[in-house]
Amino acid sequence: MVKVLNVVGARPNFMKMAPIITEMVARGGEITQTLVHTGQHYDDAMSGAFFRDLGMPEPDVYLNTRGGTHAEQTARVMLAFEGVLVAEQPDWVVVVGDVNSTLACALVASKLCVRVAHVEAGLRSFDRTMPEEINRLLTDQLSDLLLTPSPDADENLLREGIAPKRIVRVGNVMIDTLYRQIERARSSSILDDLSLNPRDFAALTLHRPSNVDNPDSLRRIFTALGAIARSMTVVFPAHPRTQSRMREFGVEPPPGVKVIDPLGYLDFLKLWSNSKMTLTDSGGLQEETTALGVPCLTLRENTERPITIEQGTNQLVGLDPERIVGAAEAIIADGRSTPARAPELWDGRAAERIVTALLARANYPPHYGLEGERAATVEI
Ligand code: UD1
Repeated sequence: MVKVLNVVGARPNFMKMAPIITEMVARGGEITQTLVHTGQHYDDAMSGAFFRDLGMPEPDVYLNTRGGTHAEQTARVMLAFEGVLVAEQPDWVVVVGDVNSTLACALVASKLCVRVAHVEAGLRSFDRTMPEEINRLLTDQLSDLLLTPSPDADENLLREGIAPKRIVRVGNVMIDTLYRQIERARSSSILDDLSLNPRDFAALTLHRPSNVDNPDSLRRIFTALGAIARSMTVVFPAHPRTQSRMREFGVEPPPGVKVIDPLGYLDFLKLWSNSKMTLTDSGGLQEETTALGVPCLTLRENTERPITIEQGTNQLVGLDPERIVGAAEAIIADGRSTPARAPELWDGRAAERIVTALLARANYPPHYGLEGERAATVEI
């Protein structure tokens, strides 16, 4: 029996972990899992609502590490997780995504010589001012098994000297959740609750520190949103960080921008999938909109998900109001619907491939494949 510790911490982790747990439970004769929640996100709207919507089991271990600076948060997760790992002695620690909890737990496991598998490995924005980029780079360096969503991720890892035998392309596990939940999301009443008609509004999310922690950036984005809102309502479920920054800076949303509290998975899926366009600085939403064919404007200068631009529906529009409004007007003027363009292996079966890869490598020694990296370094 292969024993796995699955780690989640923050909102974008939950939709990635849900199908992995379902698959592990279905293959219960071969694999057993313990779910650890670090408590990085703790509000019901940011955590509990997702567990309920996604039908996830209650965490077996809850670390309650909430809040703090990056160093405080990372250190608290490390301290709390070390004891759990020593007590549990799993064959694998599975971490997902790029949040502080991801890196903290990968670092602890790696030092204790417990195998680490990183789901969503290899994504790079090449922008080290993003805390997530640091988390991605270091988690990938430490992980024994790098489970990637797309060919660009494989290329990034190979360029960094990671041995090919540590990399398995499994596809996009968040899209497993999207396909599984889309039928259930249809019965959400969120459009009626907000008096919205399908394709007659834009959806917005905004929470990156580079956008919301700087009053000028926030004002520039709101200038653009004000212009878009003259054509259609912009619905903005606002992250707690963004709400508190808006209060702190005294930045009011322009008329026509409807600020609401964060939504659970199903309500939010119903909202953005019926929008004319989605504006966002999130990583996951760039992928989800690609999979369903919803035009997406990303309010950033770079993306770690280039496949959503090359093969999907995403455009990078940065923070320049003219550029944002120009792109939005072009979408509004274009009456056609956009075809869904899920890249290869974004097929709803990534969790199956992840569990198969974990089982196949459960007897490999920890830090397997690192000799390949030494060779690669010498060649360079
Ligand atoms: C984190 C992730 C980011 C992810 C985002 C999704 C890191 C470095 N960042 O950013 O990659 O896209 O989650 O939401 O891990 N807060 C609450 N209640 C909560 C959670 C947060 O009020 O349940 C507030 C707290 O004031 C907290 C602040 O939001 O200090 C920021 O939370 P934190 O987890 O540090 O980062 P996020 O901005 O949420």
